[in-house]
Amino acid sequence: MAEDGYSKFLSYLQNAEDTTTESYSSNGTSKHNIVENGSVQILSPDEEDADAPTTYTRSELNISSRRKQLSRRASTTEERRNPFAEREGNALIWRNVNMTLSTKQGEKKLLNDVWGEVPPGEITAIMGPSGAGKSSLLNVLAGRSRSTAKLNVQSEIRMNEYLVDPTNIEVRKQIAFVAQDDSLSFTATPREAIRFSAKLRLPRITTDNEIEELADRMLAELGLKDCADTMIGGSLIKGISGGERKRTSVGVELVTKPSLVFLDEPTSGLDSFSAMQVIKVLKKIAHAGCSVLFTIHQPSSDVFNSFDRLILLNKGMVMYQGPVSEVPEYFARHNHPMPPMFNPADWIMDVANQYSQEQLMKEGFFCKDERNMPPAIVPSGNDELLDSLGVSRHDDISEDEWKHVGFETEVRLLFKRELIHTSRNKKGVGARFALTMFMSLLIGNIFFGVGGSSMTDPSEFNSHFGAMIMVLMMSMFGTAMPTLLSFPEERPVFLREYSTNHYGVVAYFMSRLANEAVITFLQILVCLSALLPVLLSIAYPLVDLQSNFLHFLAIEYALAMSSTALAVLLGCAVEDPTMATEFLPLLFVPQLLFAGFFVRTDLIPPWLRWAQYLCALTYGVRLALLAEFGDCANDDSIFPNLCAELLDANDVKESETSLYWGVLWTLFFVFRLAGLTLLRKKSTKFY
Ligand SMILES: Nc1ncnc2c1ncn2[C@@H]1O[C@H](COP(=O)(O)OP(=O)(O)OP(=O)(O)O)[C@@H](O)[C@H]1O
Ligand SMILES: [Mg+2]
Repeated sequence: MAEDGYSKFLSYLQNAEDTTTESYSSNGTSKHNIVENGSVQILSPDEEDADAPTTYTRSELNISSRRKQLSRRASTTEERRNPFAEREGNALIWRNVNMTLSTKQGEKKLLNDVWGEVPPGEITAIMGPSGAGKSSLLNVLAGRSRSTAKLNVQSEIRMNEYLVDPTNIEVRKQIAFVAQDDSLSFTATPREAIRFSAKLRLPRITTDNEIEELADRMLAELGLKDCADTMIGGSLIKGISGGERKRTSVGVELVTKPSLVFLDEPTSGLDSFSAMQVIKVLKKIAHAGCSVLFTIHQPSSDVFNSFDRLILLNKGMVMYQGPVSEVPEYFARHNHPMPPMFNPADWIMDVANQYSQEQLMKEGFFCKDERNMPPAIVPSGNDELLDSLGVSRHDDISEDEWKHVGFETEVRLLFKRELIHTSRNKKGVGARFALTMFMSLLIGNIFFGVGGSSMTDPSEFNSHFGAMIMVLMMSMFGTAMPTLLSFPEERPVFLREYSTNHYGVVAYFMSRLANEAVITFLQILVCLSALLPVLLSIAYPLVDLQSNFLHFLAIEYALAMSSTALAVLLGCAVEDPTMATEFLPLLFVPQLLFAGFFVRTDLIPPWLRWAQYLCALTYGVRLALLAEFGDCANDDSIFPNLCAELLDANDVKESETSLYWGVLWTLFFVFRLAGLTLLRKKSTKFY
């Protein structure tokens, strides 16, 4: 075991301010004195019989810190290649955890004065009947649950004697969390997913070879060797099995050598052999110094007996809390001796399910928290807190080497993953391009050759104008819609990765932007292209529009980019893809209303007219009108000059061309920036 209660206690002492304190530690009670000259006297459990206690100065205490030894070891290649390398653990202790739901019928206690601890070096299981509050407790401890109008959450949580608020994103990032639902990128393979996590979360000193080896060892330990290079898959693509997916999620978190791991039902859906395999990996990681806490349903007796500690919850209350080895004796003492040859996990669940809470209370279950805890230290800021969690104190590796990879690497890795995702997501991308081609052909054939028709015949002229509008609208909707839908779809993966410290919001946003810029360009090109013989000018030459091809392409691209920016903003605002579909009219209808071709913008009531400046289509149409009909409008030999009338009706002035370009690109930047701000706000608020 890398860490014991005593050395944890040492680190606490470095920060203690009292003169003499009786302190709680997971191994019992220890005593320490801080003498007046600032040095510390320690009476360690091993030294209790020694004649005089050893005296250290504060700085000596620092030097002897285990963290220092470990950081020195972490700088060796061998340690960096080992996913089970020794690490500094973080003890988690909590009490008075309450969660109350306000309903019309009154208040319902989902968690009632829950207490417990997760010592480093041990694995602690939370068990209990369905609805007992296991996931709720795990979420509160991991900072993934917070008070809302209906839900009141209160807790006192300590990490290494420091009072922490796990909803603080900085604290939350230190906790590796495996949620019940897997949220993995479905086009990645288990190896890629584990590698991606390691690359982004381990210190930048770790080389690619070391990461490769780490991933290999993790895959082998989790029994994922055979499916390491198969796509994870999802609803569209068949991939690895549910159990393999679950184990991949575990690997993704464990490969980063965390010091605190929470897992919500890591063994659900696994057969008993695979379940044992996962628990063995958890034990191994715990023996390296990590604190492991997980919820579990129906463990086999082998699995149950391999736990170190158990927290048994029943209707939101702690029915038992302590070492697993003491469970049979505890139940026997309270009138429920375990029958011979019975799976203890089944037995305790039977007792919890069969008897009423009142009866179990009468029998002495649900004991109160009687731990004697010293006053907690309230960190003065994030820096002190992170330092106490071992995030920023690594003496032998330079500050720079210890840091995660930089912003450019984050963007590069994310962009690479996006590209791989796009290339493998053949159905999704194929459908997008096939639809664009189909629509282009349809429009091309319906408006066949109208661009070359008479400029003086009103009905032919109208078709010409209509064709231009249709080409613009198709490329705008065709690019914005998939973006609006894909953002919420990928949201769970982003939130998981963001909240577990893979990358920052800006890096994610930039990589998405780069990817969208490329895809949008290709899509517009397919729509207008005359590049390849097969794609020969799908809509453009069929319709025979008059403007310069590159000029029209640039207008379409700018329009598509600002519309996707609005789509991204909406996509950031909504939480699930179904909601995103509901938002589709908001994306399109105002664009059509303010574009100027249904109603002249100067006829719109003045108090609503400002909205035109938010509609990219309005400016796309104006630029396209100038490109398509500008020359003809200036040609005095044409009579009647329908082009000039059309420009006038749409309030288009050639002198304002740069203004139109400006508005189009400003909208792009404003919507993107708003999207980024919203995403950042939402992602720090809640996982
Ligand atoms: N945010 C919430 N709003 C309303 N009710 C909630 C909320 N969170 C939890 N609950 C309720 O609290 C109870 C405990 O839920 P929780 O998910 O913690 O149970 P569990 O022990 O994990 O169950 P299972 O084993 O089925 O996963 C349930 O009755 C659930 O409906
Ligand atoms: Mg649950």
